[in-house]
Amino acid sequence: MNNETMTYDYSVVRQFAITTIILGIVGMLIGVLIASQMAWPVLNFDTPWLSFGRLRPLHTNAVVFGFGGSALFATSYYVVQRTCHVRLFAPALAQFTFWGWMLVIASAVVTLPLGITSSKEYAELEWPIDILITVVWVAYAVVFFGTIAKRRVKHIYVANWFFGAFILTVAMLHIVNSAAVPVSLFKSYSAYAGVQDAMVQWWYGHNAVGFFLTAGFLGIMYYFIPKQAERPVYSYRLSVVHFWALSFTYIWAGPHHLHYTALPDWTQSLGMVFSLILLAPSWGGMINGIMTLSGAWEKLRDDPILKFLIVSVSFYGMSTFEGPMMAIKTVNALSHYTDWTIGHVHSGALGWVAMVSIGAMYFLIPKLFDTEIYSKKLIDTHFWIATIGIVLYICSMWISGIMQGLMWRAINNDGTLTYSFVESVQAMHPFYIVRASGGLLFLIGMLIMAYNVTKTIAQGKAAVAVIPEPAAAH
Ligand code: HEM
Ligand code: HEM
Repeated sequence: MNNETMTYDYSVVRQFAITTIILGIVGMLIGVLIASQMAWPVLNFDTPWLSFGRLRPLHTNAVVFGFGGSALFATSYYVVQRTCHVRLFAPALAQFTFWGWMLVIASAVVTLPLGITSSKEYAELEWPIDILITVVWVAYAVVFFGTIAKRRVKHIYVANWFFGAFILTVAMLHIVNSAAVPVSLFKSYSAYAGVQDAMVQWWYGHNAVGFFLTAGFLGIMYYFIPKQAERPVYSYRLSVVHFWALSFTYIWAGPHHLHYTALPDWTQSLGMVFSLILLAPSWGGMINGIMTLSGAWEKLRDDPILKFLIVSVSFYGMSTFEGPMMAIKTVNALSHYTDWTIGHVHSGALGWVAMVSIGAMYFLIPKLFDTEIYSKKLIDTHFWIATIGIVLYICSMWISGIMQGLMWRAINNDGTLTYSFVESVQAMHPFYIVRASGGLLFLIGMLIMAYNVTKTIAQGKAAVAVIPEPAAAH
């Protein structure tokens, strides 16, 4: 090996790790704004591009693809090198994925507030941006699988299987769901019509949850928990079963988003059954993550990074119990269209996705900058503020969601509705204030993280890590 190939390529990992934090703050700031708009509508400022309807998709794109996406790029590029004992394949292409992805996010920031949208949830960006996403994603796949192909360790560690499934499935979902007929530079119409369009959209939407917000982050779980806990994965065999069972089951569950619609009834029931089955692989994985700590529980007492990681897996378990319950048609009859869904989303998004990403970033940043974390105490403070924030967010949404559902269906003896819609809106108000406060706490935690990380980077320097010889452990 020459000098170049003897060290890991950390530059792109550093770039994505930093944008994880920046885009997290941006996306959550918009989250707090839209949460506040629901409590105090005056915050729409009578300005179309600041209105809830336009900022909501900006929030989802910024947090899911900007924050979550950056965390996935950073961790997958790091993990694939460390576990394969090679430098990234095609580093220039990896750089292209960074700048290309940032261009995608910047395009979202410009187009969504202007009201330019395909109006498909989580796939709102118009066709020219969709093409850019495809090009970046293909480059990502080439770098990732190219690195796997030139690996110097025979075995492919399980985290890479999850990252690989995430990359392949998202490519397939994006290409199929975004197929559209352009009518101008900023407007296109879906290639599908009517109920087929809805089915394709929710096949995409649900698997965006399953593979973007879950499989990739399970890759993070399988690498960073054992590393931080300094213990092997509880059961490697279970992790392999987990991988295949999860990948197979997720892909069929999409119709639970379309209960009681024009979608054929049997399709809805099939979606419900697969969602219930999904509980098993999800909990298998969750137990595998948590039990990795068995025999080392005391580490949780004074390791705040481990707290982030383990609590995230606990929220994963909670939201993957709640999801299958909400997929039962009779339960969905109550929960659909209500804040209960929003509570479920954020127990997954904040509790699982954000907490596991934050834990992984606290692990990575000192390693990438060859230093120690500036303040362990501030990580602990961040942990508690974030956890309290999530609890306020999801509990308020559970209460208001179930209340909404019950108020909307309450009927008097003569068959008339007991409550008018506006009465239900009034009843929501205090809960919207609690939700906005919870979100604000979570955002404050992110700002503390930004401070801690800035100080850490300032005291460090770009790390150079030498790749071990084939026989050595990673
Ligand atoms: C400070 C933190 C956050 C706050 C205050 C916040 C707030 C909100 C609000 C107010 C909505 C709209 C709810 C509605 O329409 O009734 C929303 C939607 C959403 N947020 Fe967040 N959010 C935060 C963080 C996140 C994160 C980190 C993620 C993902 C990783 C996320 C993913 C989503 C998704 C997917 C939706 C759409 C849900 C649906 O359509 O059912 N959020 N958020
Ligand atoms: C076994 C796992 C899961 C199942 C079976 C499941 C099931 C469900 C169900 C039934 C809904 C409500 C659909 C509706 O009434 O419209 C839903 C919504 C949602 N779930 Fe899950 N869920 C699971 C895990 C997760 C996780 C871990 C996350 C996040 C990381 C998540 C994110 C979402 C989002 C974003 C929505 C809202 C989609 C929308 O309407 O915009 N889910 N899920």
